[in-house]
Amino acid sequence: MFNHEDLAQMQAQSLKMQGWIRQQTFSPELAKTLRRFSSWEVGELIFKVNQSTLRGRLAADPSLPQGQVEEDGRQRWYSLEEINELRRRLKVNRKSLMPERPAGKRAIRAAIANFKGGAGKSTVALHFAHAAALDGYRVLCVDFDPQATLSHSMGLFDVAEEYTVWGVMARDLIHETERMNSATQGAESGAALPQRQLPSSITDMGLAGLRVNDFIKPTSWPTIDLIPSCANAAFVEFASAQYRHLNPEWSFFAAVSRYLDSIPDDAYDLILFDCPPAIGYQSMNAVFAADVLYVPSGPGYWEYDSTTSFIGQLAEALEDLSRFANVVPAGTMNLPKVFHDVRFLLTRYEPNNDLHRAMRSAFEKVFGDRVAQNPIELTRAVEQSGRFLSSIYEIDYRDMTRETWRRARTSFDGAYDEFKSHLLTAWDNLEDEQ
Ligand SMILES: Nc1ncnc2c1ncn2[C@@H]1O[C@H](COP(=O)(O)OP(=O)(O)OP(=O)(O)O)[C@@H](O)[C@H]1O
Ligand SMILES: [Mg+2]
Repeated sequence: MFNHEDLAQMQAQSLKMQGWIRQQTFSPELAKTLRRFSSWEVGELIFKVNQSTLRGRLAADPSLPQGQVEEDGRQRWYSLEEINELRRRLKVNRKSLMPERPAGKRAIRAAIANFKGGAGKSTVALHFAHAAALDGYRVLCVDFDPQATLSHSMGLFDVAEEYTVWGVMARDLIHETERMNSATQGAESGAALPQRQLPSSITDMGLAGLRVNDFIKPTSWPTIDLIPSCANAAFVEFASAQYRHLNPEWSFFAAVSRYLDSIPDDAYDLILFDCPPAIGYQSMNAVFAADVLYVPSGPGYWEYDSTTSFIGQLAEALEDLSRFANVVPAGTMNLPKVFHDVRFLLTRYEPNNDLHRAMRSAFEKVFGDRVAQNPIELTRAVEQSGRFLSSIYEIDYRDMTRETWRRARTSFDGAYDEFKSHLLTAWDNLEDEQ
């Protein structure tokens, strides 16, 4: 028979092994770094301009970043910082290389969500973040999943739970409770209204004093930041229930949304959420804060089934939040929650697999044009390698057959381009909030 102590013992053993694997498989600095990109990639895949035009422009102006030349040769290799400088300084055929962004708006927020485990959420989030960064956007990722796949993929380990979405939520509870208390105190007729009390176990954690930026960590990509997660953040799912009890009027689901509102509008272009495979306080915060919902799903029958039940559960949960409309201060949030766009994205798709093709047409029959037209294909290229999960954008094309790399990249690029076009439409429609 096994009790919690046996399970804890198994976990302790497993953690030892984890440490050993990390030591065996990685370089001493244990930090993820970003590779350079070849002039071929910069011209053809990143700026999408004629290579000889680009070469000519670089030769004509030696003050432009010139990359590094490899020993063997002809290619120059550019860091992302250099690519971004070129982007800012160059115009090709009088066209700016800067990515499109509606003027004066805050960053657009997209949640990659499905309560089905293993649907491909983290893989999609990682690839969209990288594709957007190569496209010139400044990206903030939020890892809502205590499994922390995205955080680990981005090279962030050993995160304390105060600095995760859990911390954001607990800090919001303290701020919101203070706000409610001072509102009742300030009311003329409010003499008899009760003050809400939080226990010192919450107020003494030092969370109230954390600043907006304390939650945001840099990654190996200079234009991608991350609010990471960690296993201990799973605790939030228990703690939040207790928090709601302490202050039933606290709109717990809007904590992250409020937090993101406090980031300056022009600090980022895209804010991307990786969600846990479960409905809960964290995933509700993710969907509530999202302008656009992207739902990845595998191409099998059971995955179709789970995706169907996901939207059912989500519908119920969002309906349930509507009753807060009478509680929150007027004009502070829009209830019921509306998304600017909702899309389903097939992942691990094999174009030659009859079952996958049949499931794709079933998806299209049911969801119509809500189904993204560019599914993400199954590829060997993104299988987990060692400690870090690397995206196809991070993997050097010389490290595998060019055909495999190219094919995987084309598939992710197609899905990203479509995602971007939907984002731009949603972004344009975004009202100037607050
Ligand atoms: N296009 C793909 N080709 C090959 N393997 C893939 C692809 N997409 C995802 N995978 C693999 O499938 C597994 C699950 O993917 P991922 O972790 O992205 O799913 P998830 O929905 O985030 O899972 P969870 O629900 O546990 O958070 C991983 O091992 C990943 O490498
Ligand atoms: Mg995941």
